[in-house]
Amino acid sequence: MSQINSPTQSKAWEKLDKLSKPFKKEDFRLVNLFNDSRRFSRFSLKHNSLTLDYSKNLLDQESLQILVELAKDMGLEESVTAMFQGEKINTSENRSVLHTTLRIPAKENPNSEITDCLKKMERTVTRLHSGEWKGFAGKKIKDVVNIGIGGSDLGPLLVCDALADFKVGDLNMHFVSSLDPSHFDDVIETLNPETTLFIVASKSFDTLETKQNASFAKKWLIASSKTSEVIDRHFIAITSNLDGAIDFGVAKDNIFPIWDWVGGRYSVWSAIGLPIAICVGMDNFFDFLAGAHSMDRHFLANTPEKNMPVIMALIAVWYSAFFNCHSCAVVPYSHRLKELPFYLQQLCMESLGKSMTKENKPVLTRTGEIVWGTVGTNSQHSYFQLLHQGTQFVPIDFVAVAKTASSSIDHNERHSHLLANCLSQSLALMEGKHENQERHKTTTGNKPSNTLVIDALNPFNLGSLIALYEHKTFVQSILWNINAFDQWGVELGKIVSKSVFGKLTSSNPSDDLDSSTENLIKLLKKGGS
Ligand code: F6P
Repeated sequence: MSQINSPTQSKAWEKLDKLSKPFKKEDFRLVNLFNDSRRFSRFSLKHNSLTLDYSKNLLDQESLQILVELAKDMGLEESVTAMFQGEKINTSENRSVLHTTLRIPAKENPNSEITDCLKKMERTVTRLHSGEWKGFAGKKIKDVVNIGIGGSDLGPLLVCDALADFKVGDLNMHFVSSLDPSHFDDVIETLNPETTLFIVASKSFDTLETKQNASFAKKWLIASSKTSEVIDRHFIAITSNLDGAIDFGVAKDNIFPIWDWVGGRYSVWSAIGLPIAICVGMDNFFDFLAGAHSMDRHFLANTPEKNMPVIMALIAVWYSAFFNCHSCAVVPYSHRLKELPFYLQQLCMESLGKSMTKENKPVLTRTGEIVWGTVGTNSQHSYFQLLHQGTQFVPIDFVAVAKTASSSIDHNERHSHLLANCLSQSLALMEGKHENQERHKTTTGNKPSNTLVIDALNPFNLGSLIALYEHKTFVQSILWNINAFDQWGVELGKIVSKSVFGKLTSSNPSDDLDSSTENLIKLLKKGGS
């Protein structure tokens, strides 16, 4: 492991600081880097059907080389090995981090708990699709509602949405996450309790939002069936808290495991992915795992210079440290990938929003970045103005899908417009435009971006894409020497909300909080005004 506790202690850091200066000079033009006719081939990588073009970045061979030195100084190779070998790298929770094991092909997978779980998922998917699984009135299940939040919601939601063209069977999948009752009400509005199955996805089985929604679902079912004996036919639980799920009333046979070595935001590959298997079938779910596994192999096998997640992480750390970069945008030019930015928000910000090193010392650099974004081209008509002419430094990941799912001529033409817009944005952001007469029209250019091209949106490629971002996040955490796998800030929020709930619902006035919170409680208690 690295002897250095902060990247700023690496010799590479000082060199990088110097190397970043020419890119900030007024006369620097990013576009001039393309005078090197081999820039694209030097600054792009391909893995299976995924191409990363990182040539439109403020980067040259030398700075890249020193970034690689930084990664070596921070112990990148050793940390990657430690993760894959199951060392307890989540030190604050004393846990291994082994979500990559979940995607080892079943035939080679040494962990029988994982393969048993996959078999159980397979049986469940078959029973649901065949109609063998019946609700309390003896009818086939038609609708499945996933109740979960954070990692127990965002992953399956993203993937089910993204793979809509791969749907098999006639089951409809729904997702409820919010504590706001309107979310649950909107989802069940058109559903029939007799034909609805709930999946309570909660690693802890102790998350307020999920517990509230699950209890509500139970009441809704009991109100219709007039008996509490129906629960076992209408509830599945995915959890590491077996007792919690049993206490709630879920039949033991309907409980799927999740292990402490799978972090919530890294859990889409586990039984948390059951909604995906229900939507697209088990074969497609296996392809999804295979795609992620292929990215794991790429990540393990390649030197930093040829390693997609490593390159993306190095660029992110470079901008954060030397270009005053606070945020990055992810803009998929694919309606099917509209949930991707939200998924990545949790993955990156819950993992990297840390200000203590692994040794519990304050970090000496900025860590994490604010991840945001929405689909293109809609984004072009909302916030792109700020990206083109604003004062913030915001590198962008453009994600494009080369082939459309449809073969109709009309679709192909629209798809070409979509792709043209994606490419034209990165081009315009890089080139800019100088207007001597009307200076308000000047755009400075030099705005960097990555472009990720996926040949086609299918389960395998989507698995690779998500795993790419997982490993990118992990590498960033190594470079910053922080723990990417805990989330103590979120835990604090949960504790505080319990005590505020007590005050909000108590008839006694409280006066032990700050005057802002006190007065807001008073205001809300009387219904506003
Ligand atoms: O948001 C905090 C968090 O702990 C996430 O890490 C997790 O994905 C989410 O809550 C849900 O937790 P659980 O699956 O235990 O309900």
